[in-house]
Amino acid sequence: MRLGIVAAIIFGGTGLIVYRLPPALKSQRFHRQTTLQAESERSVQFAGFNACGDCHDDEYQKKKTGYHKNLSCETCHGPAAGHVADPVTVKPFVSRERRGCPVCHEYDASRPTGFPQIVPTVHNPLQPCVTCHNPHDPVPPKTPEECSACHAGIVRTKAVSSHALVACTQCHTVPEQHKATPRIVRPTKPETRDFCGKCHARGSPVVAPPKIDISTHGEKYVCWQCHYPHLPAERL
Ligand code: HEC
Ligand code: HEC
Ligand code: HEC
Ligand code: HEC
Ligand code: HEC
Ligand code: HEC
Ligand code: HEC
Ligand code: HEC
Repeated sequence: MRLGIVAAIIFGGTGLIVYRLPPALKSQRFHRQTTLQAESERSVQFAGFNACGDCHDDEYQKKKTGYHKNLSCETCHGPAAGHVADPVTVKPFVSRERRGCPVCHEYDASRPTGFPQIVPTVHNPLQPCVTCHNPHDPVPPKTPEECSACHAGIVRTKAVSSHALVACTQCHTVPEQHKATPRIVRPTKPETRDFCGKCHARGSPVVAPPKIDISTHGEKYVCWQCHYPHLPAERL
């Protein structure tokens, strides 16, 4: 009985208020109109990836057939309609840092099976992703198959090390005959500390590798008595 009275008051009161409202406030037409107007007054932020092809044919063609074919340019470069209208003064965002790529590629058990994933803290941690992967055609870099046929362990180890991009042949000169008669014709191996110093000595023209003072670091020992050259982060 009491509940009935409360309900009657609520419904009656609401009905009365709605009845007394001016018709303009009850019409959905005005609401729709103003919403449409507000939306269409917003400026267009995205140009769509076809627009980019007009001026950036190289990136456009590269991406079209690569692993990133399903990503729009603006997924990585941000909304770029302003840039299309005025390419010289308005520059789109270019992310060269490591943060961007793991948004999609950091290991996450919920991603689809087979989606290429990495653990950023151990996958070549010192460099930006774009030093090794072309963002417009990210083919995973490969070591020459010709060595992996027989030295698969070393190839696999080196591929995940910070020497991934230092080719086998940069440290070993390999005669063609080695592949036919490996035990008779052998490749060279580095012999001096200065060999590693070419890239690692302070003052070396090669910029990327970390630098050491070659006259004092590790003293009289050769470098590979302490660093495994195919996985140099590992200290023996
Ligand atoms: C009308 C031609 C034109 C169109 C269309 C165009 N760009 Fe550009 N873009 C340029 C020019 C010109 C430059 C180089 C400006 C310079 O040299 O400083 C440039 C530079 C860039 C850069 C490099 C910026 C930097 O800081 O180095 C990126 C990234 C880029 N454009 C992305 C895009 C994307 C994404 C689209 C499609 C949404 C697009 N562009 C559409 C003409 C265009
Ligand atoms: C997966 C993210 C990603 C996508 C998708 C992508 N880019 Fe890029 N883009 C980058 C990164 C990262 C760089 C910086 C590369 C570097 O510095 O080596 C870059 C650089 C550029 C540059 C400057 C090149 C230079 O040498 O300075 C242009 C122009 C460009 N992108 C255009 C495009 C266009 C056009 C598309 C679409 C067809 C596109 N990008 C799609 C990530 C992306
Ligand atoms: C918006 C999500 C997204 C971002 C951001 C992104 N990727 Fe990708 N990436 C993908 C997709 C999708 C594929 C294709 C996966 C497939 O073929 O199954 C792919 C494929 C790859 C592959 C191929 C791996 C293989 O063996 O199949 C590499 C390498 C790669 N991306 C590197 C990068 C790098 C480097 C960046 C940063 C510049 C980046 N990705 C940013 C979504 C992304
Ligand atoms: C020093 C070079 C180097 C850097 C820096 C680097 N990668 Fe790689 N990446 C490789 C090599 C070599 C491979 C192929 C061998 C392997 O699977 O480890 C690879 C493979 C991949 C794959 C394919 C994995 C799979 O299972 O198919 C993805 C995805 C990838 N990298 C993403 C990234 C991202 C994202 C970054 C930045 C956070 C990055 N890489 C930084 C060298 C590098
Ligand atoms: C057909 C198989 C085969 C191929 C292909 C091959 N190797 Fe070898 N390699 C061997 C064998 C077997 C040995 C071991 C010889 C021994 O210990 O007596 C060896 C030894 C070596 C050594 C050590 C030499 C020494 O004196 O200790 C190096 C360095 C080497 N290989 C580098 C390479 C490189 C780099 C490539 C690719 C360009 C390559 N090999 C391709 C089979 C091969
Ligand atoms: C940064 C230089 C460097 C690179 C790159 C390199 N090596 Fe070596 N490698 C060495 C050095 C130094 C030794 C000698 C190690 C020792 O004597 O203890 C060696 C030794 C070897 C040996 C003899 C067996 C062993 O494990 O000591 C083989 C086989 C070999 N390398 C194969 C390869 C292959 C295959 C690649 C490419 C996947 C490669 N190396 C890339 C520096 C390098
Ligand atoms: C062609 C140039 C080159 C040569 C030759 C070379 N390295 Fe490297 N080294 C590199 C690069 C590139 C890196 C990775 C830098 C990075 O990850 O930013 C590196 C990284 C290293 C690191 C640091 C590993 C880490 O992740 O902390 C050590 C240690 C190292 N190298 C030892 C050696 C030794 C020992 C030799 C001689 C057998 C050698 N390097 C020869 C280019 C070279
Ligand atoms: C007696 C052992 C020993 C010898 C020999 C040795 N190292 Fe090291 N190296 C180390 C240790 C331990 C570290 C890590 C601690 C540090 O950074 O000083 C290291 C670190 C490094 C780093 C990384 C520096 C950084 O900033 O990340 C490089 C590059 C390097 N060594 C190169 C070399 C080269 C090239 C040689 C030969 C000329 C060599 N090492 C000889 C023990 C040695």
